[in-house]
Amino acid sequence: MHALTTVILAAGEGKRMRSRQPKVLHELCGRPLISYSLRLARAVGERIVLVVGPDADAVRAVAGDGVAIVEQRERLGTGHAVLQARGHCEGLDGPILVMPSDAPLLSAETIERLVSHHATTGAAATLLTAVVDRPHGYGRVLRQGGRVKRIVEDRDATDDEKRVNEINTSVYCFDGRRLWPALERVRPENDQGEYYLTDVIGVLGKAGGRIEAITVDDPEEALGVNDRKQLAALAAIQRRRILDRHMLAGVTILDPATTYIDDTVTIGADTVIHPHVIVDVASEIGSDCVIGAGCQIRATKLGDRVRLLPYCVMTESVVDHGAVMGPFCHLRPKSHVGENCEIGNFIELKKAKVGRKTKAHHVGYLGDVVIGEGANIGAGTIFVNYDGAAKHTTVVGDGAFVGSNTSIVAPLTIGEGAYVAAGSVITKDVPADALVVERAQPVVKEGWAARRRAARAAQKKQDS
Ligand code: UD1
Ligand code: CA
Repeated sequence: MHALTTVILAAGEGKRMRSRQPKVLHELCGRPLISYSLRLARAVGERIVLVVGPDADAVRAVAGDGVAIVEQRERLGTGHAVLQARGHCEGLDGPILVMPSDAPLLSAETIERLVSHHATTGAAATLLTAVVDRPHGYGRVLRQGGRVKRIVEDRDATDDEKRVNEINTSVYCFDGRRLWPALERVRPENDQGEYYLTDVIGVLGKAGGRIEAITVDDPEEALGVNDRKQLAALAAIQRRRILDRHMLAGVTILDPATTYIDDTVTIGADTVIHPHVIVDVASEIGSDCVIGAGCQIRATKLGDRVRLLPYCVMTESVVDHGAVMGPFCHLRPKSHVGENCEIGNFIELKKAKVGRKTKAHHVGYLGDVVIGEGANIGAGTIFVNYDGAAKHTTVVGDGAFVGSNTSIVAPLTIGEGAYVAAGSVITKDVPADALVVERAQPVVKEGWAARRRAARAAQKKQDS
């Protein structure tokens, strides 16, 4: 069999999205729509030609290596878009697979079935169709005596044709040699004045070419994204598929209805996810973890056996094996929590590197710090990292003990094993194993309160 070339059509403006960005860059479960088509194309063949619109640098960037990119300068329709790929396809003998860039639920198995059916029948074109309850908006597949004759677009269809519930999915396999001459004969004679790829089917049929069709088993696969309502509807389906995949791979998801996991996320077996959790942007979660209710984990890597109590929010950070975090803990970017650390209630970390087994249990701000192993950061500790103009770093040595309600004014270093007394405001380096106390001496006035009460009582008596 000759090698397959896949042409992905991604030059459409996506008017119905009413968006400043191209439709194919809108995300579905954390991936831009175009990446679903590219993934599919890579799964079924090696040669890929991507047709993009003008000013589509961001789309080109998503495509990455190994994809030939052509520009459709004027958006004159799907047929015109395919013609732009001609230079990359002509002279190659293999079949040409055409795919839209707005049908992210298609599976590789379905496409492979289409391609192999096309190869065995030697058809001029093989369509992928779907039988749906609500065909409104899609092109209808018109058959005669069971054989596909042509496709009519919804807006050009008669009332009778609109009743047909077999639709065009916009995925086709063509005989490369016959496609180009047929495309040249397509005219923009329709409601939109566009060159429709769908018309090529009628042209090929009339020229005596054989038109084959296979129908998707699951009509969900054929759904396309044209507007944001459809984007949300497809995202709901894809979300459920992602959850199913994780559950089948050994992840417990207590409430799939309220759990949102992006397509780019990996999760180890025996991890348990509580309700109302969001995990996105290529986060990696290890095995045997517990993700408490309401946690939001973004672009973050959790080791094995990490336990997040409810309502932790984490971004672009790393948490090593066995750490316990939360509830209500906030990891801002570039934080790294070491193995078996305990980071508790209402602790905010930013660019904080925390060594193994260090504890910070209650309330605090750990910004721009490097803390060693086995240290203890008391309740209410604030690392004062900002002087109004610049940020500064604090270093805390292994085994240091920082008492509660302490402010540590960066830049400075607290040596290994040092003690910082509660309530201190530390502005200078503390040597290893030292104790630092920075408090005003208490002033104790014996009997003061009793004298005050007595004076008040006397005053009251005089007034009455
Ligand atoms: C298209 C089909 C319709 C089918 C439906 C399936 C045509 C004329 N109609 O309609 O039969 O039922 O898909 O979802 O083909 N594009 C370009 N350049 C253009 C126009 C479009 O590259 O000038 C690309 C779009 O980016 C998109 C694809 O072609 O990926 C389909 O275009 P779209 O406008 O979404 O077509 P539909 O109206 O959905
Ligand atoms: Ca579409």
